[in-house]
Amino acid sequence: MKIVEVRHPLIQHKLGLMRRAGISTKEFRELASEVASLLTYEATKDLQTVEQCIEGWAGPLTVHQIKGKKVTIVPVLRAGLGMLPGVLDMIPAAKVSVVGLQRDEETLKPIAYYEKLTGRMDERIAIIVDPMLATAGTLVATVDMLKAAGCKRIKGLFLVAAPEGLQRIEAAHPDVEIYTASIDERLNEHGYILPGLGDAGDKIFGTK
Ligand code: PRP
Ligand code: URA
Repeated sequence: MKIVEVRHPLIQHKLGLMRRAGISTKEFRELASEVASLLTYEATKDLQTVEQCIEGWAGPLTVHQIKGKKVTIVPVLRAGLGMLPGVLDMIPAAKVSVVGLQRDEETLKPIAYYEKLTGRMDERIAIIVDPMLATAGTLVATVDMLKAAGCKRIKGLFLVAAPEGLQRIEAAHPDVEIYTASIDERLNEHGYILPGLGDAGDKIFGTK
């Protein structure tokens, strides 16, 4: 399975800022989006291009354009919305397929409450965006939804991932490619990532 921990100095610096206790909603939100842009750059390195002949300012020339149907970004409600602006900054023409899943705080099992996918999922690369990959219950359910809609190539971008969750997604869906700013140490007894970021959704939306 392809798991990439993107150890770029800008990403490490920004993630380090996000880990501070007492960080403001504004700063957390801005950094989540900035790290998402940098992860997108890394995750799209292998997209195929085709040559195109165009009329340039000094005459005809050949340029490269991304091949195939437009990518679809899949933000997982609610916290995934915090990464969406940064991803769209990099891929402004992407289609957005929104899914809603909420982790039950007792059982840690995801409850799906929304799904609105774009058309021709079978012809697009899907890029799931969610700040946290903890037990991976949410990710496994999201990939199940996308595969049921015909998706064949799926990548996931996460600010922080837990080793337990990575093992689980590898067992369930080894074909999914994971890009994360950090593989952290472990989950605590409540299913939170340590050292992690705390509750990413609350920090992005200013709730609690
Ligand atoms: C968080 C996070 C992931 C999920 C990860 O969302 O954004 O979606 O938990 O946990 P898992 O890997 O154990 O499934 P949460 O359910 O708290 O909802 P929110 O986005 O509304 O905050
Ligand atoms: N969801 C979060 O927001 N944080 C975690 O550490 C785990 C799940």
